[in-house]
Formats: sequence, structure tokens, C-alpha cells
Amino acid sequence: MAKTPSFTCNACGASHTKWSGRCEGCGAWNSIVEEAPLSTGPASKSLGAGRGARITLSDLSTQETPPPRTQSGLDELDRVLGGGLVPASAVLVGGDPGIGKSTLLLQAAAKFAQKGLKTIYVSGEEATAQVRMRAQRLGLSQAPVKLAAETNLRDILTTLETEKPALAIIDSIQTMWADNVGSAPGSVSQVRSAAHELTTFAKRKGMAVILVGHVTKDGQIAGPRVVEHMVDTVLYFEGERGHQFRILRAVKNRFGPADEIGVFEMTGSGLAQVTNPSALFLSDREEPAPGSVVFAGIEGTRPVLVELQALVAPSSLSQPRRSVLGWDSGRLAMILAVLESRCAIPFAGLDVYLNVAGGLKISEPAADLAVAAALLSAREDVAIAKDTVVFGEISLSGALRPVGQTENRLKEAQKLGFTSAIAPARSKIGSKTGLRVQKMPDLAGFVGEVFGAG
Ligand code: TYD
Ligand code: MG
Repeated sequence: MAKTPSFTCNACGASHTKWSGRCEGCGAWNSIVEEAPLSTGPASKSLGAGRGARITLSDLSTQETPPPRTQSGLDELDRVLGGGLVPASAVLVGGDPGIGKSTLLLQAAAKFAQKGLKTIYVSGEEATAQVRMRAQRLGLSQAPVKLAAETNLRDILTTLETEKPALAIIDSIQTMWADNVGSAPGSVSQVRSAAHELTTFAKRKGMAVILVGHVTKDGQIAGPRVVEHMVDTVLYFEGERGHQFRILRAVKNRFGPADEIGVFEMTGSGLAQVTNPSALFLSDREEPAPGSVVFAGIEGTRPVLVELQALVAPSSLSQPRRSVLGWDSGRLAMILAVLESRCAIPFAGLDVYLNVAGGLKISEPAADLAVAAALLSAREDVAIAKDTVVFGEISLSGALRPVGQTENRLKEAQKLGFTSAIAPARSKIGSKTGLRVQKMPDLAGFVGEVFGAG
């Protein structure tokens, strides 16, 4: 039987039977490459019963002790890992080029090494001299980390086999190259194969491995979504260019809660931990201005206060602009539609800009009411009181739904000097709260109360 060639899109991983200039799966151009067949052995025979070894079956009731973890001492990192690094686990750290992944991992390598984990840092992108210079800049030259600049996966595995480290950091997975795979470094099959080899090696040898992965423009780890399935933990390192804040976010974690975040600040001497993100996100706040609202959010297990900024201006375009940073554009469209149809406040003919200050990305529906408040405040040119926080989910009917962890949100707001809050009517609020809470049943009521219209 003639072997049918197989083609894979480097951007989304979709497979195709023929090459084309544009991937039908994700619409990316020039991303389709020919795949080398996975095995060069005899054409795959069916796996008949009786040929394999018997696997051990165990009971559900078998007692499992929680994995022993090693804390790096960088609390922001340890929390995102679910309480520290689990031995024999595989972690993927994704992020835009230049966001600070290598810096973060060199700092983490030094910390883990100082905690007694034998740590090897393999750079496929920089020469050892460059990594050493960075270590010097970070004040980590004395840390007992072993360095290598290498991309040949076979040599790396052989070295790991003899060195037996407790932690190996591979920076980056896209530069690794397995000589038994025909395609070029960085291609889907190379990345997949390298990630597979490294993660299975880690499991077998009881070594933890951290893989660095670059992310494409649309926020996917370049090429291999498949890598995300192979590892136990996927962390994204995010931030806006021009902002010094960096957020490490767990998007998947077999050993801890997903959605946990760690906050860092990029300084001249590396990444500094930010233990009170609310204070940092609100530090640039000016006098109360129309369009600015403070949202009391929850990120992972932590309350985080963040400023939302909206600008609403007459549009000269036939289709007015809707521009969003740090929030979902579909959700913005929904809130505009609810304002329009439930509160009779039209946004037609108006450009709408919405920013989450500080470069944080928010995905909680609890921010709905704060977004609506920012939009209305900008549109009506009325500032919301500076000492007020806002939260609540908006349903399509215009009703306001209570959200989780109301108490924690209020407590954080109080801690930062806020004196009042606007929240959905049915929110469970204890009597202890020191804030004045204005409870709103629906969006129309909120508009009437706060803006005297609606
Ligand atoms: P880097 O860790 O190389 O990013 P990545 O590995 O994600 O591509 O970080 C690169 C940027 O960080 C670079 O623009 C310089 C900046 N930086 C600092 O601001 N301070 C520092 O101490 C270091 C090491 C880097
Ligand atoms: Mg790097």
C-alpha cells in the first residue's frame, strides 16, 4: 500500500491529507508542513490480544499519600504550581517571546537548587555565556545550577540519564531536535516528539521537568496543543508590553487548582514578587474620572482589585469600534446589548474602548457589572465615587446574579481603604462587613440609582 503523506498545521495541529497555503482549521497562512510518519517499522499491524505484557490492576481504595513537594521559596511560583514542585511531574511554561520566561526559570532554577534539588538548565536558544551573564545580572552566579547550551535531544537525555538531576529545565521545547524525526526543529512533529521523550523520561526517572514554550500571536503554544495534553501542569506567563507587571497563570494543573495566579514585576535585576497585587494594580489610579471603575475580583484563591477603564466617543465609522484589552470581546458585546435592550441606553454610533489596567486579563463573569458601570460612567460623563468597588454578573434579562466569594471581595476592598460596594441584590453578605453595600436587583435599577436615568 502506498504511504499517504500527512500534513500538519504548525499553528493549530490539525492534520490534512494534502498541502495548502492556508489551514482550513485555524485560517493561518503558510503553517502547513509535511509530517514524517511516526514509526518507520513495518506498516502498523493490529495489536492482537496475547502479545503484550499484563498490566497491574489496583483498587480505587488504595491509599495515596499526597505527593511530597519542594517549595522554591518564590511564593508566587509555588502557589501557582499548587503548593510547590511535584517530583516526576512535567510542567509547561508558555508565553510570548521576550515576556520573561527565561528570567523566571533561571530564578526558579537557582531557588530550587538552593533548596537542595539537583537542577540542570538546558538552553537551546542562548549560549552558556549569555545565560551566565543573565545570572550575574540577577545576582545568582553562586547558585548551584548546572548549565548546558544544547538542542540535540538524544545528547540531552543521555546526560540527564547519567547526571540524574531532580529537576531539568528545557528552554525552549521549540528548539529541541530529535535526530530520529525527519522534520525541522520547531515543527509539530519535532516538538511533539521532544515533549513526549522528555515527559516520559521524567516520569520513568522520577525527575521533574519544566518545558518552556513560545506562544503564537493568538495565544496558543506554537504548534503543539498536543504538548498541553502531555504535561501535568500548564502555566502561562502573561503581561502587556510596556507594563512591568507579569502574571503567571495556571491554566491546567493535575496537582492543584487551575486559575491560580502569581504576580511579578520585571525590574532591572529580574522578576520581583508582588505580594499585594491589588495595591499594585491600583497604584496608578488618578482622581475619580468618568469611565474608571474598581472591580473586586477573585483570581484563583486570591481577591484582586483592579481598575477598569472605558472610553465612549462618537464614531466616524459606519461600524463603530469595539476595542477591548484584558476582557472578552464577546462578553462586552453582550453587556452592550443588555444595556441597549433592557435599559434603553444605545451605543450605536459610538466607539467603545475598554481596558483592564495593569495588563491583567479577567475572565470572571463577576466583572460584568463593573464593565457596565465603566461603560455607563464614560457614556454619561459621570464619575463613580472613588471609594467604591463594583462586582456582579449580568444575565441576558438584565437581572444581576450574585457571585462567589462575596465576603472575600469585600474584605479585600476594605483592606485597601474602600468604604462602599455595589453588588447584586441576593449577595450573601455577613453583618460584619465594614463597607456600605448598595444592593441592586437588576441593571435598570443600577442605572437609575447611580446615574439617575434608565
Ligand atoms: P527573557 O527572560 O529573555 O524572555 P523570554 O525568555 O520569555 O523570551 O526576558 C527578556 C526581557 O526581560 C528583556 O526584554 C529584558 C528584560 N529583563 C529585565 O527587564 N530585567 C532583567 O533582569 C532581565 C534578566 C531581563
Ligand atoms: Mg527565553
